[in-house]
Amino acid sequence: MAPQPWVDIAASHVLPLEFDRRYPIVVRAEGVWLEDSTGRRYLDAMSGGSMAATLGHGRRDIIAVARRQAERLAYVHNERLTNPAQERLARELVEVAPEGFTRVRFVTGGAEANEMALQLARSYHVQRGEPQRWQVIAPAQAYHGPTMATLALTGRPGLQRPFGPYLPHHLHIPPSTWRFDPTGEAALQSLDDALEEAGPENVSAFFCEAISAAALPAYTPPRRFWEGLAERRDRHGFLVCFDEVVTGVGRTGQWFAGAGTALMPDIIATAKGLGAGYAAIGAVLCRDHVYQAFARGSRSFTLGHTWDGAPLSCAVGLAVLDVLRSEGLVERVRDRGSRLLDELAAALQGISMVREVRGHGFLLGVAFVDPRDGDSFLPPELGVAGRIDSAAFGRGLITLSTQPTRDGYAGDQTLFAPPFTSTDDELAEMVARFAASVRHVAGEVEAELEVREPASPVSGRDSR
Ligand SMILES: Cc1ncc(COP(=O)(O)O)c(C=O)c1O
Repeated sequence: MAPQPWVDIAASHVLPLEFDRRYPIVVRAEGVWLEDSTGRRYLDAMSGGSMAATLGHGRRDIIAVARRQAERLAYVHNERLTNPAQERLARELVEVAPEGFTRVRFVTGGAEANEMALQLARSYHVQRGEPQRWQVIAPAQAYHGPTMATLALTGRPGLQRPFGPYLPHHLHIPPSTWRFDPTGEAALQSLDDALEEAGPENVSAFFCEAISAAALPAYTPPRRFWEGLAERRDRHGFLVCFDEVVTGVGRTGQWFAGAGTALMPDIIATAKGLGAGYAAIGAVLCRDHVYQAFARGSRSFTLGHTWDGAPLSCAVGLAVLDVLRSEGLVERVRDRGSRLLDELAAALQGISMVREVRGHGFLLGVAFVDPRDGDSFLPPELGVAGRIDSAAFGRGLITLSTQPTRDGYAGDQTLFAPPFTSTDDELAEMVARFAASVRHVAGEVEAELEVREPASPVSGRDSR
């Protein structure tokens, strides 16, 4: 019998994420190409679908390191034992982290890293004799993971439903996009309101992405916001935690995106690119003053998971850092990223549904609007995000589009996050296939909305 390209959900024993979606069965991958069970190939503009496979697929050098480590010592737990791979990876991460970060705790993924960052911030205050500090303030339009604590960090009812009863009440501010707050002043006002509502002496942390990933692709607040946040941190004594689960370890053309903002965070959580899709590993990094609160206090920070700091995953993390350094990939992402943004913006030029093309390194985003006014969110029932991904898939391209319209802060949008190792030709092919997909969907949408004269596109790009 000929192999099937899609899994038969009715016959499968996997509990799928979406029961009505067609899931292609990917059987192998090499570089930036995925291959399904019928031999059809797809360009991977999403680094394995989740932005994790930053170095492409099938890297024999990383696999060889993992194999050698597994043969020597695959696993010991970090509660009572340590191992050279964990020790060395912590040292090397501190070397590439922003100045002042001195300590690292390993975990197995992004949500775990964010949860541990939350626990670290809260415990820091307890260590210093301020046990009333627990409240978090965070941008509403964000994604920090699917666990209860990380779901509570976003202000998106669409994500939180039906888990509301399990979620602590944190406070949220709107994003400073062109639609809501181009200067960042409104977000600062919301931050002041939230501080007043919580009582500044009860606030543990401000928690955010330095540069957003899927929730608001490639968005970062204006400089004024970061400066205002730094002033308020100094005044009120809360910590700033950056979720760098996506942006950490090179994605934006810097080792950590936080190094490029006008504010140095106190805690950074990172994950995906640290294992590059070859191991489940994340990390929490903290600046020395956070560490010193524990060193001078209880001298313990004990909660952890079974796979934290395991030799096998840490050895993969070391191999990833080696590849990034020896192939100059962080620099390549930085230099090539600004050209990629220009190329993407040029390819989407003149499409009235495209309002904004943003980018930092190899993290790019496209925001779509209603072509009738070039301003409003697209009607959600048109399902534009899903249609763009389907059109791209039909052209052999993997993209990730989202439609958080009903949460109120962003409409249909696409994230574009290729592996750092993509060649110029592969990037050009990704851009061409994506632009063709968007043009196709835009044509359909204009016909459905009976657009006679589309609004002229307002902005080509924004690389802030
Ligand atoms: C910005 C951000 N934070 C946290 C997470 C959660 O990471 P994980 O899926 O590894 O738990 C994700 C996952 O996509 C993410 O994009």
